[in-house]
Amino acid sequence: MTKDEVLAILIKKADYVSGESISSEIGVSRAAVNGAVKSLKADGCLIDSVTNKGYRLISCPDRLYAGEIYAYLNKERCSNIICLPSVDSTNNILKSMLPDQPPAGTCIIANEQTGGRGRMGRSFISPPNTGIYLSMLLRPQSAVADISEITCWTAVAVHRAILSVFDIRTDIKWVNDLFLNGRKITGILTEMSVEGEIGMISNIIVGIGVNVRQRPEDFPPELRETASSLGIYSGNYELSRAALAAAMIRELDRMNDSWPSDKSSYFNTYRDNCVTVGKNVDVTNYATGAVRHGYAVDVNEDFSLKVRFENGDTEDVRSGEVSVKW
Ligand code: BTN
Repeated sequence: MTKDEVLAILIKKADYVSGESISSEIGVSRAAVNGAVKSLKADGCLIDSVTNKGYRLISCPDRLYAGEIYAYLNKERCSNIICLPSVDSTNNILKSMLPDQPPAGTCIIANEQTGGRGRMGRSFISPPNTGIYLSMLLRPQSAVADISEITCWTAVAVHRAILSVFDIRTDIKWVNDLFLNGRKITGILTEMSVEGEIGMISNIIVGIGVNVRQRPEDFPPELRETASSLGIYSGNYELSRAALAAAMIRELDRMNDSWPSDKSSYFNTYRDNCVTVGKNVDVTNYATGAVRHGYAVDVNEDFSLKVRFENGDTEDVRSGEVSVKW
C-alpha cells in the first residue's frame, strides 16, 4: 500500500526527501505520494513539507502501522506482512486465511486484540497501543511430535529478538513463556493442522503476545502481581514496538530456515536462559488437573523438563503446566 511504503521511506531517511524521489522509489505518481502524505497526517503523523526540499517525518504515533515495520525490513519480505488496527485474535485471522493457501511466513500483526487467546482456553489481555500481537504461518517439514520443540525454538527466537533490539535478556520459563523478575512478559500459543494419513504437520500458526509499553495500571488488578512489560522492567515506556516486531519476524524467519539442523544453537540458548531449572515446581496434569510437587533438575535435549518429584521419582515432563515457586 502506497501509504505504508511512503511512511517506511520517511522513517528510514530521517531527513527531507523529495516527493519525486519517493514516487520513483515506489513507482507511483506524485499525486499518489501527496495523497499518502495527506492520509498519514490525518492518522496523526507530523510531517514537515518544504518547497524544493520535500517531506520530513517529525513524529508518528506508535500504532504498529505497516509502514513503521516495513522501515526495518526489505521490500520483498513486507509483501506477506499484514498489520491491522484491531482484531479478535491474530491467530484466528491467519487461520481464516488458510483455505487460500497463503505462503509460509505470512504474518498478521495487530495493534489490539479484543479476544486474544492463550493456552488452555485462557484469554490473553491485549490492550491497544501497548503490546505486540503477532501470528506467523510456518510449514516446517515436521512430524506432529516435533510441535513442542518448535514452540521452544519460538521462545528462543523471541528471546533473541528482545535481546538484539533492547539489550534485555529475558528468562525462559518452561515451556515457552518469557519472564522478567519472575513476571510474565510474553506468551506463545502454537496451533497446528495435520495431514491425517502421514502424521506430518501441514500448517503451524505461532501466535506471540509481547507486553511492551504497558504500565502496571494497564493490567487488570488480578494480573498485576504476575504480569509485567518490557516498559515496566526498563522504566522506558517509549520502546519501539515496530523495531521489535521486525526483529521478531527476522528471528522467526531465521528459525524457519534453521529448522531442524541448527538444533544445538536453539537448545543451548534455551537451556542457558531457562529459569525453571533449579527451582521447586508444581506440575499440573492438563487432563486431570492433578498437581504434583517437585524440583526441576534440567532441560533434556528434546526440551522436556527433568523433574524429581516429592516421592523420589524422576520423570521427563513433556506436557502440562509447570509453575515455578520463585
Ligand atoms: C499464553 O500465554 O497462554 C499464550 C498467549 C498467546 C497470545 C498470542 S497474541 C497473538 C496470538 N493471538 C492470540 O489470540 N493469541 C496469540
